Amino acid sequence: MRLSPLTPTLHRSASTEGMYAGTAQFVAARLVAAGGLRGRFRLALAGGSTPRPLYRHLAAGDGLPAVDWSKVDFFFGDERCVPPDHADSNYRMAHETLLGRLPIRPAQVHRIIGEDDPRAAAASYQDELGERPLDLVLLGLGSDGHTASLFPRGRELSEWQARVVSSRNPLQPHRRVSLSLRALVEAREICFLVCGVDKAAVLSKVWTEFGHEQPTLPAAMVRPAGGAVHLFVDPLAAALLPQPPGDAIPDP
Ligand code: 6PG
Repeated sequence: MRLSPLTPTLHRSASTEGMYAGTAQFVAARLVAAGGLRGRFRLALAGGSTPRPLYRHLAAGDGLPAVDWSKVDFFFGDERCVPPDHADSNYRMAHETLLGRLPIRPAQVHRIIGEDDPRAAAASYQDELGERPLDLVLLGLGSDGHTASLFPRGRELSEWQARVVSSRNPLQPHRRVSLSLRALVEAREICFLVCGVDKAAVLSKVWTEFGHEQPTLPAAMVRPAGGAVHLFVDPLAAALLPQPPGDAIPDP
């Protein structure tokens, strides 16, 4: 499938801490702004380890716009097919660092039922997700260019009807359930969060592939119609990106 080239908005920071602080400001501001306009805000959380400090920042709220968390519906970009208390569960990570620290009702959290059969979990999550676009999707980046649980050369990349798919990471044991490319490109806004020297090479490739009509890396395929893709990166991950004119954007 040919895609329209897209230039993501690059948010460089002068430090890793600055990247997390800047992303927290951005997300909180979106939650405040849209919550007032549209009533409810549909936020999809990223998994993995990178988002942990961001979620702690959002839960603490220090120096952030005051978010009315009662207006936020929490979804997940993907989940490993494990129980919610498993060490590898994205839900467990999000609950420990964010959801369990917020004044929200259980009904606001739309968990992927990782302990179910992957196909059944995908079907029930798709029902729960419905057809309304997500307002903001937080995503990480794997060193092979995957995002959520959409992996290079995976069959799930050719799925453009379903909004939720089951998949498998060739390098890890657990089956996965993930938002599909359709759900991601239907989102109003995408925020990638990438930090660490081990992501520098893949981030550079993803940046380049966003300019290609036929990208090979799943992260570079995430091109919402409105083009709102933000890359929040720390200096280590940004090391191989084209140098900006002038200095790095100062941390907030
Ligand atoms: C997952 C994530 C996955 C993650 C990347 C980066 O369930 O693992 O959805 O896409 O964001 O693999 O993981 P780290 O943040 O741990 O580097």
